[in-house]
Parts: sequence; C-alpha cells; structure tokens
Amino acid sequence: MIADTIATGRHAFRPRFLKTLFIGPFVFSDSGWQWWLYDKSAEPAARLMDRHQLNGSDDSVVTLRHYKGRHAFRLDTGMANYFAKEVEMTSLRTRLGALLGKSNPLLRYTHGTAETRHNLIVDDHTGYGIRTFALGEYVRHGLPRRQILIHEYLDGWRSLGDAWREASGQAQQAALLARLERLLAALHANRICHLDLNASHIMVPPDGTAALRVIDCGKMCTEVRNPLIATALHVGKMMRDLNGHTLDEPVLGEMALASFRRIVGDAADCAKSRQIVLLACRYRLGKKISKRHLVMNASLKHLNVAALEARALTDHKNRNRLATPPRLTVPANTVGKPPLCHSEHDATAHPVSALNAVRSVRYMPLEEVRQIGGKAG
Ligand SMILES: Nc1ncnc2c1ncn2[C@@H]1O[C@H](COP(=O)(O)OP(=O)(O)OP(=O)(O)O)[C@@H](O)[C@H]1O
Ligand SMILES: [Mg+2]
Repeated sequence: MIADTIATGRHAFRPRFLKTLFIGPFVFSDSGWQWWLYDKSAEPAARLMDRHQLNGSDDSVVTLRHYKGRHAFRLDTGMANYFAKEVEMTSLRTRLGALLGKSNPLLRYTHGTAETRHNLIVDDHTGYGIRTFALGEYVRHGLPRRQILIHEYLDGWRSLGDAWREASGQAQQAALLARLERLLAALHANRICHLDLNASHIMVPPDGTAALRVIDCGKMCTEVRNPLIATALHVGKMMRDLNGHTLDEPVLGEMALASFRRIVGDAADCAKSRQIVLLACRYRLGKKISKRHLVMNASLKHLNVAALEARALTDHKNRNRLATPPRLTVPANTVGKPPLCHSEHDATAHPVSALNAVRSVRYMPLEEVRQIGGKAG
C-alpha cells in the first residue's frame, strides 16, 4: 500500500495516457523526484530508485552504463530485477515536450514521456515491446528536467547483433531472420516506425521460441501515413546491420528484397518501396534524410528516390560509396517516369511487369546523381 502523499500541483497539462494509465505521481522522499506507477507492483522499484537518487550508492542498484548524459541501471528489489534508464532533458523545449507529452519540431522528440508512450503502444499493440513499470521525474520550475523509465529487466537476453554473430550456421540465422520478420510484420500491421531500429535495439531471449523485443522506442512514429516506407526502412537497415560486413551488395540487396516481400506480401510490387529497401540497405540515412518525414508526410506517389540517394551521398559517412563504381539503388528505368504506385496504400496499381525492376538495375553515373542531389533541397 502506498502511504506517502501524492505530489501536489496541477496535472491538467500532463498527457492523458499518463493520467489514465498510471497512478500518482507519488513523492517518496526529499529526493526531488516524483513517480508515476503503472501499477502498485512498481512501488518497490520506484522507491529503490528514489532512494538511490537521494543517497547515492546503493548495492541494489547497479550502474550498467553512463553515456552522453544517460544512465542505465539494474535494480534488484529482492523480489525482481528491473531495468531503469535515466534521461536528461537539456533544452527548455524538450522539457516542455516532456511536460505536455508532445512530440513535434517545436517541443522536440526525445524525452522520457514520448519513450514511455511508445513503449506502451508497442507492448500493447504488437506484443514485441517491453513492460513499463514506472516513470520518475525530477521537476524544476514546473518542468521535468530528468526522467527515469523503469522497465522489466531482460535477464540473459542478447542483442540481435550479438545473437546473429554467435549463431552457428545458416539454419540458426534463418530462424532468427524469420523471428525478426514476424516482429517487423507486427510493426507494419500497426503502422509503427522505429526511427532508431538497429541490431542493438532488438533483444533476443535465451529461450529460442519466445518473441523478440524492441527497445529504445524514444524515436518512433506511430500511426504512420506510409507503413510500406516504414517497413522498407526497417528491412533495409536491419539487413545492412546484420549482413553488411559479410555479404556483397547485390546479394545483400536481393536478400533484403526477399525479406521485404515475405513481410508485406504483394505490396512489395510497389517499385518505390523496393528502392527504399535498397537505399536503406546501402546507405546510412540518419543525418541527411528525415525518416520521420518519409513515413509521416511524404507522398509515395511523388517520392524521388534518386534525389534521396544523392542526398545520402552528401553524408560523409557514406563517402566510401562514392569511391565504388557508379551505382545507384534506383532502377534507371523508373527515374523521371510516372510513379508506379498510384496511391500510398494501393500497391496493387503497379504493373506486374515492373516486379523485378531492381534485378535489371542500370546504374546511373554519379555525376548525374550529384546534379539531382543539388536540386533535392
Ligand atoms: N529492459 C532491458 N533489460 C536489460 N537490458 C536492457 C534493457 N533495455 C536495454 N537494455 C540494454 O541497455 C542498452 C542501452 O539501452 P537503450 O538503447 O534503451 O539506452 P540508450 O541510452 O538509448 O543507449 P544508446 O544510446 O546506446 O542507444 C541496450 O543496448 C541493451 O543492451
Ligand atoms: Mg539505444
């Protein structure tokens, strides 16, 4: 039973999911922290973390990492282990975003409130998320300055990257890939795009049959306009992470496209979505291309993949691609022609003859690519 006073103050501006799904916020001590609990079973973990903030060292709290102002801890309450992640919000705008639970260009995206909301959505809608237990907040001048997310602890789990490297033989890797595809299919069906999906943000259980889990859901779009692009980005990136160092590019591309088709079925007939798979497979997109824009705002019909590729090439991290023989992920026969998909969600409108367009890619000279990049804006 929670005996302490509920934090005073007005919570009218707090996001609805926090007020309806959580209880609190509770204040347990003079630590300056307040705690929203998903249910009462989270109380011991929240109290432990609160005590740790007040007194510093505590044997039951093990710091797993301290990196770029973020901490990760393992909490041992004596009854169970928990994973806690502390994030600091350095800008006023992010703090406002954390208070209001808003994610937009003005109030930024990377605060613990957004991550908590995304974790709940992934867990509830797909079954591939982790359980959320509590959200702690260190509030100053009415705004959360630091937040702590308390999750279930994935004991003995490995990242997909590690599991992939340690897999003995192709059969094990194929089994892992099948499990990954099921996870990506669930994200696709629920119109979710994880903007920071990589081989360390998918966890593999020690039990070979249990479902994988998606973690670090801070940068995420839900209810995306273009789930096909979202999945194309997911597949290309994962294929690059898992096999980019071991396979030649054409083989890698073929594997990514085959995987994409297994996940989205006939919707993979849409040539532009296949080009996005190859783009994400070949390039690091993070700095130069807004994935958020691609999945939320871009029109698949008017998407200029050649321009996107040219822009990706301006990222110094993709500089090694400039040195390779002129290649483009974009099948030249589609550049400048009417789009093959006539609407964002109508992949069937695309003629079957273009199904294997990517197999007969005619690569465009880089000079031409650079010119397109200059116009891309
Ligand atoms: N629930 C969990 N249980 C156990 N370990 C976890 C859990 N969540 C994350 N981890 C481990 O902690 C690491 C960091 O977690 P996470 O990616 O969420 O934090 P981060 O601060 O965003 O780190 P980074 O900047 O490296 O992405 C993960 O790569 C994973 O190995
Ligand atoms: Mg991370």
